Amino acid sequence: VVDIGSLYKETGAFTYDPGFTSTASCESEITYIDGDEGVLLHRGYPIEQLAEQGDFLEVCYLLLYGELPTRTQKEDFDLRVTRHTMVHEQLGWFFRGFRRDAHPMAVMCGVVGALSAFYHDSTDISDPQQRMIASIRLIAKMPTIAAMAYKYHVGQPFVYPKNELNFAANFLHMCFAVPCEDYKVNPILARAMERIFILHADHEQNASTSTVRLAGSSGANPFACIAAGIACLWGPAHGGANEAALNMLGEIGSVDRIPEFIARAKDKNDPFRLMGFGHRVYKNYDPRAKIMQKTTHEVLGELGIKDDPLLDVAMELEKIALTDPYFIEKKLYPNIDFYSGITLKALGFPTTMFTVLFAVARTVGWIAQWKEMIEDPSQKIGRPRQLYTGHTQRDYTPIAKR
Ligand code: ACO
Repeated sequence: VVDIGSLYKETGAFTYDPGFTSTASCESEITYIDGDEGVLLHRGYPIEQLAEQGDFLEVCYLLLYGELPTRTQKEDFDLRVTRHTMVHEQLGWFFRGFRRDAHPMAVMCGVVGALSAFYHDSTDISDPQQRMIASIRLIAKMPTIAAMAYKYHVGQPFVYPKNELNFAANFLHMCFAVPCEDYKVNPILARAMERIFILHADHEQNASTSTVRLAGSSGANPFACIAAGIACLWGPAHGGANEAALNMLGEIGSVDRIPEFIARAKDKNDPFRLMGFGHRVYKNYDPRAKIMQKTTHEVLGELGIKDDPLLDVAMELEKIALTDPYFIEKKLYPNIDFYSGITLKALGFPTTMFTVLFAVARTVGWIAQWKEMIEDPSQKIGRPRQLYTGHTQRDYTPIAKR
């Protein structure tokens, strides 16, 4: 590892690394990935153990504070988060300003950014206590805002949080309860939702987290930084891949059409890619994808969905791709997005909500990384360099002479 900052000071040399494929942008103690072995650890704990045994707010505490909470710490943290689940009543008017057919991610970018207009005290990033309150506000309010985006999208009234429910169950309640019916959250589906949130909680310096850090490096307030992260997450190469993967499975439609799509994915003249396959860091099975696959089966089993054509296509596609020399050579394995779409669809969410749910879960990772950066004494404004390839200096020509 070369400290290019010192090298730059001494020699003026800097590196050219499009896409940051080999450049570390920071030091971090939060998440470790071994892409060759398919290992993901949060603060040292394997994702498999956290997803199987932990709950989402416990993982939030771990990411924010560095240790698993004791029972009292956990109760206190849960209470602090629950106290902040409501959003300012005025925020509802933001939603009403959007077209009903607006993509919920467009709504999320706007509404989350607007939080800085409501919680002025939390925009003081120099105060450690306010930084923590902002973090808790964001973790607590994201599900409420996401559920409001969903309700607005489907034309139903907003549902207030029900704080005796846990994080995931409360989210399902806010999304699926309707005033005219008695809605009870299914505990197996709530557990699946919780696992989905845990699996998406953090993933070190991915594009959206790097965006949050870059925005935060200028001293921008945390709500604005998270809105920047949401905007970045929306892209189909990142968080938008779960929506794109499900759309792709639908487009493939039946198992017999898989070879046609595999051939397209391999064709250099065709921009088509198998969505939900490949990862910048994992050159092995994404450990989250394995847990996600199991969760998918649990959810379909609970709902009594036996023959899901999309799942049939997904299973067969995975089998074929994993034995295809192109995918083997390029180390392209299914990532978490490959299975999460099927699960979210079975839970009742429209595809347009998939990336929103990712944003709800990733908020804790974004904010933990933002805090770590702000609290790092060596923190500097993020300011990449460039290799200029434009014109050399030339003289202005008056418009009459052009
Ligand atoms: N289908 C077909 N070929 C692929 C795929 C794919 N899904 N992914 C990568 N490749 C090929 C590329 O064409 C390239 O081939 P080449 O070396 O002959 O040019 C090679 O594999 C390497 O791919 P890169 O794009 O250089 O890898 P990079 O690390 O930049 O991209 C990415 C990673 C964006 C995830 C890519 O694999 C992709 O587009 N996957 C589909 C989208 C997706 O599932 N995104 C979710 C990522 S996980 C997440 O955000 C939660």
